[in-house]
Amino acid sequence: MDKGLNDSTWRHDRPRIRGILSSAHSPGDVVVEGWVRTVRHAKGVAFLAVNDGSCLANLQIVVDTATPAGGALSQVGTGACVRVRGQLMESPGAGQRWEVQATELVVLGPVDEAYPLQKKRHGPEFLREIAHLRPRTNLFGAIFRVRSRLVFAVHRFFQERGFVCVHTPIITTNDCEGAGEMFRVTTLDPFRPTVADGQAAWREDFFGEKAGLTVSGQLEGELFAMAFTDIYTFGPTFRAENSNTSRHAAEFWMIEPEMAFADLAADCALAEEFFRYLITSALTECAEDLAFFDQFVAPGLLARLTAVAQAGFARMTYGEAVAELQRSGQSFNFPVEWGGDLQSEHERFLTEQIVNGPLFVTDYPAELKAFYMRLNDDGRTVAAMDLLVPRVGEIIGGSQREERLAVLEKRMHARGLQPENMGWYLDTRRWGSCPHAGFGLGFERFLMYVTGVENIRDVLPFPRTPGNARF
Ligand code: 4AD
Ligand code: MG
Repeated sequence: MDKGLNDSTWRHDRPRIRGILSSAHSPGDVVVEGWVRTVRHAKGVAFLAVNDGSCLANLQIVVDTATPAGGALSQVGTGACVRVRGQLMESPGAGQRWEVQATELVVLGPVDEAYPLQKKRHGPEFLREIAHLRPRTNLFGAIFRVRSRLVFAVHRFFQERGFVCVHTPIITTNDCEGAGEMFRVTTLDPFRPTVADGQAAWREDFFGEKAGLTVSGQLEGELFAMAFTDIYTFGPTFRAENSNTSRHAAEFWMIEPEMAFADLAADCALAEEFFRYLITSALTECAEDLAFFDQFVAPGLLARLTAVAQAGFARMTYGEAVAELQRSGQSFNFPVEWGGDLQSEHERFLTEQIVNGPLFVTDYPAELKAFYMRLNDDGRTVAAMDLLVPRVGEIIGGSQREERLAVLEKRMHARGLQPENMGWYLDTRRWGSCPHAGFGLGFERFLMYVTGVENIRDVLPFPRTPGNARF
């Protein structure tokens, strides 16, 4: 039964602008709901560009001022929310196949002139100040549609390959990366400390020990890999590193697969296949949005992504990378020598200048990497890998894990970690241990790479960075 335009009712097949614009034939009468991007008045007629978030393109609504629909026009400004009924017709205007000749127009949500997203194009810095409204812009519409498609592609990739999805805990008592960047989770009153001295205070706390927000789901993921063989996690990750850079967020999402019976080479192979799969998914499923980024954000993006989707990724050991950097004659702010951390200027030089594409750097010095990475036979490097990509730098970090109990305990002691505190983790090495490997892909870093957007704050719906957790 036909309902009046003033009644709201949900239907799974309600028309969305994306579907309407791709119609092969006019279905005749359509109902469109969305937000007005622009209003243009001409003699006796107004043109509304309406967007409902289903795609980048707007649908043009033509309203004859003399018709009943025209009566509502006085309330329609940029940003207003409207519901329109009308006939879908071939558009005589350039640049669009279809338009709607309105027969009815209801203003669901009027606006006034203070609406900040008026016609002119705003930069991402300004839009970050109004993060609650920015999804209504072309740029952020495109970013968050791509983000959504790629979330699905991540799950599809692993599910198609038989990986089991595991939700690792968000509240945890272990600092996986050992970098001391955990946010504390506590119900103790900071203004009324119960006990003055260190550890004793945590016994009074909610969990009876010091707890925080997870920096990685890996350790719990390893436990599941040693039961399900292939697993992955995809969840929020928190790091209290006070680095105000364009590539670090305090809250980000990480995808962490873990495979039993796998070594470092298998780990790199999975990472490469996964990375290419996500790029291909973006190219085929988000073509309109990527074309927008190519035109307005990062010229040449499409050609770059297409090339990466086809090419094999370069590989280099840390030792080779250091030698390449030293040979380059380039002057860096941080010195390059074996044993030193690769700084982002080094990483970018390797991937942008030397390789000009994605690069796996493997086998880092043990002291630079986390305790769980497998010690190589040389006794001084570990079976680690970082995937570096142009513009973004490190996008994946992973390793083969130390599956030998005695070696692992020794590595923990060397790091000042007490194996007794992680008995649950070491039990897997005691009972039925096996070679295994995994990695973590920072989802936002990947989105930066695939959209060409340069600041991580712009690929997070509501970014959390030092000093900012407002919206
Ligand atoms: O290299 P990371 O620290 O590795 C791990 O956490 C391992 N436990 C992963 C594993 O082997 N299962 O982090 C992995 C990735 C980085 O390469 C980067 O892409 C991203 O997570 N990342 C961040 N992204 C945004 N903001 C931050 N503060 C990030 N820190 C790491
Ligand atoms: Mg890393």
